Amino acid sequence: MKRVTLPAYAKLNLTLDILRKREDGYHDMQMIMQSVELHDDVTVAMTESGEVVCHCGDIPGDESNLAVKAARAFFDATGIVPGGLVIDIEKRIPAQAGMAGGSSDAAATLRALRKLLRPDMLGEELEHIGARVGSDVPYCLRGGTALAEGRGERLTSLRPAPPFHVLLCKPEFDIPTPALFARVRVSELWGRPDTAGMLAAIHRGDADGVAARIKNVFESVLPPEFAGVFDIKARMRQLGAEAVAMTGSGPTVFGLFRDYALVRDAYIILAEEHERTYLTQFV
Ligand code: C5P
Repeated sequence: MKRVTLPAYAKLNLTLDILRKREDGYHDMQMIMQSVELHDDVTVAMTESGEVVCHCGDIPGDESNLAVKAARAFFDATGIVPGGLVIDIEKRIPAQAGMAGGSSDAAATLRALRKLLRPDMLGEELEHIGARVGSDVPYCLRGGTALAEGRGERLTSLRPAPPFHVLLCKPEFDIPTPALFARVRVSELWGRPDTAGMLAAIHRGDADGVAARIKNVFESVLPPEFAGVFDIKARMRQLGAEAVAMTGSGPTVFGLFRDYALVRDAYIILAEEHERTYLTQFV
């Protein structure tokens, strides 16, 4: 049986800005994305069953799963009719967390299918297929440090950001992305990031400049029931983080550290207080 296993890395938003609401209901974004070592493992195996089957831990492996949607989009775009497919996802990235876990699984599925069935397909074509699956999928295909614009699918790869250790903590609640977008009135937004300054800091390799500009405009529209995000931010600062922010539409909070001993101690303390706490780093 032909099979491929690939890592699906989680992402953080070093910055997240919302520029305008579009006619199609989506928002034009400006986000600087960074992948981290925390990853799922996605195995795609060709079968003769005539079905697409997906195992994804506690998450439904039905047609709502982004990895299944990615497989369908790949077959639609290429005209390939598969015998059958099994997608096995070993989940580590928490779901509904603002870390693009589902999008990254979809991206890994697309890369696996290209490897198995269309090794000559250009990255650009694969990103085009990915954009039909979800706004974050094209970035997840590319990874590293990148500026994402438009819906999130227009990408400019950047020089890798200066390295940081990352403390991640997902609060006990979930924040549905469409509900948070619905709270956005673009003309009233405050707490917006300095995207140009962040791009310049990354270009210079200036770690202090990067840490100083970590910001997510979604934090300014969080309803009061999600104030736990701010409690975790404050706790991470107390524990020595140089910069803290929510990632994506949340609710996961990340803290950046340069000193490994400090982040390891912070991880040990925070993991006692919050079950879903992770120690990782930029990749
Ligand atoms: O593209 P994706 O399916 O990931 O988007 C989920 C939802 O998030 C969309 O239906 C839309 O409500 C919102 N969204 C948005 N603007 C974006 C990305 C997502 O309004 N740039």
